[in-house]
Amino acid sequence: MDPKTHDLIIVDNGNGDEPLSNHSNNPTFAAILEKRLSRRDVLRGSLSVAVVGMFGASLVGCNSSSSSDPAPTPSQPSLLGFSAIPVSDADDVRVPSGYSYQVLIPWGEPITGNFPPFDPLTNTGADQGSQVGSHHDGMHFFPIEGQDPYEGSSVEGLLVLNHEYVEPRYMHASAVGKSLSRNAFPVQADGTRAADEILTEMNGHGVSIVRVTKQSNGQWAVVADARNRRITALTPMELSGPVRGSDLVKTKYSPNGTRTRGTLNNCAHGVTPWNTYLTCEENWAGYFVNRGERPREHARYGVSTRGARYGWDLADNGADEYVRFDVTAKAASAAEDYRNEPNAQGWIVEIDPFAPDSTPVKRTALGRFAHEGMVFQPPVEGQPVVGYSGDDAINEYIYKFVSAQPYFKATAGGHLLDSGTLYVAKFNADGTGEWLPLVFGTGPLSPIPDNQGDPESPGQIGFASQADVLVNTRLAADVVGATKMDRPEWGAVDPKTGRVYFTLTNNTARTADQVDAANPRPNSRWGHIIRWEEGGGNPTATTFNWDIFILAGPPEDSQFDGQPLTADQFFNSPDGLWFDKDSRLWIQTDISESVMNTGDFAQFGNNQMLACDPVNKDLRRFLTGPLGQEITGVITTPDQKTMFMNVQHPGATTSPDEFAAGNLKGTWPHNARYGRSATVVITKDDGGVIGT
Ligand code: FEO
Ligand code: CA
Ligand code: CA
Repeated sequence: MDPKTHDLIIVDNGNGDEPLSNHSNNPTFAAILEKRLSRRDVLRGSLSVAVVGMFGASLVGCNSSSSSDPAPTPSQPSLLGFSAIPVSDADDVRVPSGYSYQVLIPWGEPITGNFPPFDPLTNTGADQGSQVGSHHDGMHFFPIEGQDPYEGSSVEGLLVLNHEYVEPRYMHASAVGKSLSRNAFPVQADGTRAADEILTEMNGHGVSIVRVTKQSNGQWAVVADARNRRITALTPMELSGPVRGSDLVKTKYSPNGTRTRGTLNNCAHGVTPWNTYLTCEENWAGYFVNRGERPREHARYGVSTRGARYGWDLADNGADEYVRFDVTAKAASAAEDYRNEPNAQGWIVEIDPFAPDSTPVKRTALGRFAHEGMVFQPPVEGQPVVGYSGDDAINEYIYKFVSAQPYFKATAGGHLLDSGTLYVAKFNADGTGEWLPLVFGTGPLSPIPDNQGDPESPGQIGFASQADVLVNTRLAADVVGATKMDRPEWGAVDPKTGRVYFTLTNNTARTADQVDAANPRPNSRWGHIIRWEEGGGNPTATTFNWDIFILAGPPEDSQFDGQPLTADQFFNSPDGLWFDKDSRLWIQTDISESVMNTGDFAQFGNNQMLACDPVNKDLRRFLTGPLGQEITGVITTPDQKTMFMNVQHPGATTSPDEFAAGNLKGTWPHNARYGRSATVVITKDDGGVIGT
């Protein structure tokens, strides 16, 4: 069949700019702010109201009594020892003087099976299943001993990383010479899609587990190992926790609602204290299409009524594993069709990288939303496990999970994530905050007889069970009155203070009427970083104190420690965030492909990574990436002398016409036909700790 090309994509999800699907009318905090501040103050000075303090006096009056603040005066030299680098719009990776890097495991690198060599124009869908996936994102280096996620070998380990999505035009011979956007895919003349192209795309998603080693020449390399593994959009998975067995997850594939196939749009990650990997499902909703009436568990998450992101439901072989992405109710019962297929996505999935035959487990007690990642407080023997996860979509929320069972190192495991309390954050204008429990039967999270609920009228929303609360986590958060945030991305916990930092990447949909103390800028193009300290320093507390750590942006519209960001510091759209064990904070940026290197965004150059010493208020640009990409994913070896970080979607700003002409805008790392997402391995030339 003569392939023709259609750009079926109506919503551009390729850059992570999620559509607004929170139409709830639980208030933003504009009203609260107006009680405390004149309207003029709010509008005049986003800077003057934004940096409220949990750590001192502020314009909005903080009464923090925290006693665990570190000394406000630095008592140690800065953690940063490198010279900041300038912004860059070159098609390469740049690191400070005295540092070097190599490229490792680009998309398509063979790691398992029959190790098929990478050739995007001849590789089959099955080949992609033995190769590294595309669009590298969250990542962890597990020392090869398999005992502790942060201790052990610094020269040998399992690198585990997410593959958030794919760029179909790079994957198929049928795309060559066609005018295709970064989100478009080839469609055949009869409107179907070639099944093997779909298999390639599904196998390009998921997670890679790959053994890597530092060779005698100092370069890192892939090692063949029985634990090398691809987990994809097809891998069988178990559902655990309160939603397991619920009517809401019964499908033709799993009539008893205990299993599903695949994980989608794996963005950031988490690392459990018991040495397993969590992969987090972010913009999964767009992969489905419901051509009929959408139930609330579809509508509130933005499941499309017009077409699925990659048209996997259009497979020309009609295979069950592909057509399940059409989630229109078609049969007499849910156990006979795929109306509930989207309800098995939106979770956090636990994977044991050291058990290659293990089945990944979706931990439903952690809630269902557009999970960015999950970050834990350091575990304390005999205390609950506490972790945080953000819902990266416009005006969505930040959540905290507190396990029901205490942590004991000797017995810890995934069961700790199956029962506990999921809370959602409410940020008050006075610098305090509350964790609101999402527990069936408490407060408004109760049944309303004969009314399943109207997502646009939170007062009318009822819930039938804890499974219902969790499948509809966003609605539950709406009705308890959580604070709508500017797209929560990664979180990070300072290992020395327990303070939690979260990036709020941007939110151009926030109007002047909707600003609040925690999200202080209307039309927020640059984003900010918020942080909090749990009440009394206790991670299980239901109150906290917060402030804004950095307002990102150009020097004239930014703030860090009361000062504008300098030429060595300015950035926008913070996304990746990670504390190393010295409490160095690493900040990564994701300027959308739709605006990067254009207009007011041109001054920022390509996406970048910075390092920060929060105590000394030292912030320096550490790395700039190539054209068209975002920087995401970062971890070091236990000795902190090797850093792994990811470059995702290089060359994605290539226009359809440029693609058709073979004139790509960005071909990092190999200057070959196409760019390839890849891991970058960074070392210091003197063998020292990264960042010093
Ligand atoms: Fe996948 Fe929110 O970044
Ligand atoms: Ca991200
Ligand atoms: Ca992002």
